[in-house]
Amino acid sequence: MSATSFARSKEAADFLLARTALRPAVGLVLGSGLGAFADELQNASATGFADIPNFPRSTAEGHAGRFVVGNVGDVPVAVMAGRVHFYEGYPMEQVVFPIRVMRQMGVRAVVLTNAAGGIREKLEQGCLVVLNDHINLQGVNPMSGPNEARFGVRFFDMTTAYDPAYRALAIREGTRLGIPMHEGVYVAVAGPSYETPAEIRAFRTLGADVVGMSTVPEVIVARHMGMRVLAISCVTNLAAGIGDRPLDHKEVLETGARIRLQFIALLKSLLPQVAASVRDAVPPAPAL
Ligand code: HPA
Repeated sequence: MSATSFARSKEAADFLLARTALRPAVGLVLGSGLGAFADELQNASATGFADIPNFPRSTAEGHAGRFVVGNVGDVPVAVMAGRVHFYEGYPMEQVVFPIRVMRQMGVRAVVLTNAAGGIREKLEQGCLVVLNDHINLQGVNPMSGPNEARFGVRFFDMTTAYDPAYRALAIREGTRLGIPMHEGVYVAVAGPSYETPAEIRAFRTLGADVVGMSTVPEVIVARHMGMRVLAISCVTNLAAGIGDRPLDHKEVLETGARIRLQFIALLKSLLPQVAASVRDAVPPAPAL
């Protein structure tokens, strides 16, 4: 993380803030097949990744690649419809850049969503898993390199990376909406090949419940900047060797689409409460 990253993320944040009167305190990242939520925002201003200064461009199918600032009810949120992944060949600094930009915009809490393979036996296709921890097997840490002290300290805690209050909130709201909710550990792999059955057996032994190719770098960088984190996986498929058929990206997208309405309902009820929690945490600026 270099000093130029600070300046470059500030430039992107200023660009995005100049396009809207809204000032979001909450950020949302929408994973594979879940980008449709961005269409639900009111007073939305949407910008393609390619039009934002210094921004990486997404290439994965199912990732629309838009940064949208808009209201959920009367709560402003900054939404990434699509993300960039390590497997696309980007350096980690680019993978986590949008989270830096959100922080520079004033965002204090992020809700990260993703598609994941279900490892734990009880997890079925289409169920939601609130992440309570992770195992990073991507082989790199996004914080490697010089520390940018304006963002955070060199060594930082990851014990409560997945905010306990947000986890409880998500389980409560999901259950209230009739969605089967689970909690679990996410193992992040580099991809893009799906795992082998032997890898999945190994991951299960290690304590992982779901597997995916994203999210963990974003969580690490968000925690570096002191942002609160909620992360939710949609189990789009059973992990390799657990189901009775080969893995297929089309299936991942189809499952995402199938549970989209439930996911949208959950996000609509969660985001205002997450926003309220950070509003309370940050004392309002004194009147001048
Ligand atoms: N493995 C890795 N990433 C994924 C999977 C999977 O089974 N499903 C969705 N993303």
